[in-house]
Amino acid sequence: MTDFVRIVEVGPRDGLQNEKAIVATADKIELIDRLSQAGLRTIEATSFVSPKWVPQLADAAEVFSAIAQKPGVAYPVLVPNEKGYEHAREVGVREVAVFTAASEAFNQKNINASIDESIERFRPVLERARADGVKVRGYVSTVLGCPYQGAVPVADVVRVALQLHRLGCYEISLGDTIGVGTPHKASAMLKAVAGEVPLSALAVHFHDTYGQALANILACLEYGVRVVDASVSGAGGCPYAKGASGNVASEDVVYLLHGLGFETGVDLARLSETGRWLAGRLGRETGSKVGKALAAA
Ligand code: HMG
Ligand code: MG
Repeated sequence: MTDFVRIVEVGPRDGLQNEKAIVATADKIELIDRLSQAGLRTIEATSFVSPKWVPQLADAAEVFSAIAQKPGVAYPVLVPNEKGYEHAREVGVREVAVFTAASEAFNQKNINASIDESIERFRPVLERARADGVKVRGYVSTVLGCPYQGAVPVADVVRVALQLHRLGCYEISLGDTIGVGTPHKASAMLKAVAGEVPLSALAVHFHDTYGQALANILACLEYGVRVVDASVSGAGGCPYAKGASGNVASEDVVYLLHGLGFETGVDLARLSETGRWLAGRLGRETGSKVGKALAAA
């Protein structure tokens, strides 16, 4: 039996949230539809956060309402609080993601709350989601380092991941927000979290700032993780994480996975073409080495 790895495509959200120039709503919609056509099964579509904090995603409701939802594809959106949850539900969102961090300093900058305050904000979101039959994913940021605090104790990652799991998040994504991790540190962190939260409920989310993301993913795959977040064209970064570059490129992750014999359901040629199309819309070269290689081949 071939092992399946689910890719959570975060390009339309993590990829675009950091873009300074406002991307046209029509381009955001086209991006999401191209990604579903390329075979992605989970596409994080946008964020229902404060438009004062992330102006780029102020068109969240418009984008979500206009995408051509493909059966069998999940379109989660980020929500920081109940207000975001309500706005998301008004346009029919069926899955949301809440987000906090293992570092107090980062959380203050990103969502203006302590870790405990953020968990309290999520509690009513999880309660309403349960009643509404809405799935909730949880993110823990800065799991391998923080731009403000520096080192982040693994015990803090474990504690926050466990809190989110107990609150009812079906999956916890462990984020190396600033891409400082290396493979053994990444797998040791995953192992520590998997001591408290089932491995089947864990995902990994690497940014590629130091070029370590694929190596980190491989180490985590070897440990047994089967859900990997990635961003088409390697777009992205967090506006509140100084120095963070883009996520690992989805094309590069798919190439790695197929090379290892995993199934993803993704059509690599179509995905790469989408990555180059997005890069063109953003006025730059694709950030995916595989995307470049396939174009040249
Ligand atoms: P605040 O200023 O402390 O909160 O922001 P507030 O309640 O005082 O609200 C301020 C204003 O925003 C008010 O409007 C609210 O109504 C409004 P005003 O009265 O001034 O006109 N507001 C909202 N509007 C729309 N939707 C909402 C919403 N909530 C409040 N949901 C808040 C607190 C959490 C809202 C803010 O800090 C925020 O939106 N932060 C989001 C930051 C963000 O999106 N960061 C990037 C995503 S995280 C990430 O990238 C990491 C990840 O990729 C994993 C990894 O890599 O590690 C996930
Ligand atoms: Mg991220």
